[in-house]
Amino acid sequence: MKIVIGNDHAATALKMEIMEYVKSLGHEVINIGTDSIERCDYPVYGKWVGRAVVSGDADCGILICGTGVGMAIAANKVKGVRAGVCSDTATARLMKEHNNANVLAFGARIVGPELAKDIVRTYLEAEFSGGRHQERINMFRDIEEGKEGDA
Ligand code: RB5
Repeated sequence: MKIVIGNDHAATALKMEIMEYVKSLGHEVINIGTDSIERCDYPVYGKWVGRAVVSGDADCGILICGTGVGMAIAANKVKGVRAGVCSDTATARLMKEHNNANVLAFGARIVGPELAKDIVRTYLEAEFSGGRHQERINMFRDIEEGKEGDA
């Protein structure tokens, strides 16, 4: 798969490690994050990763900042993005199986490198379950398009 990775200054070291790990799993990596530890603005990278995924330039995205939260919020502002923050492997699997998350976010100040790698591998290997979950994904689209749902 082609995976776009974005990060801010809080996550530069972990991003480097995760990039190498993702490549070792046989994936192609597009690095659009900062390679510096100079302070920068995480919403920009969240937006760029979201756009790369929605445009089809990448199959999915990985975002790493201090907590993962700010970047996930930014990415979710891009129509079509389903970004989730994750600190454990069960959530990493379920966010793909149930939510078909197309962007995985986590925090370099929250998870250590080994857990981060397990989270990434679990997320990349998991598959969307479809079925009733697809109906709920369609409801995300309805929200984005301002359509009234059943509820
Ligand atoms: C940067 O200090 C920090 O706010 C950022 O990396 C992230 O945690 C935001 O959600």
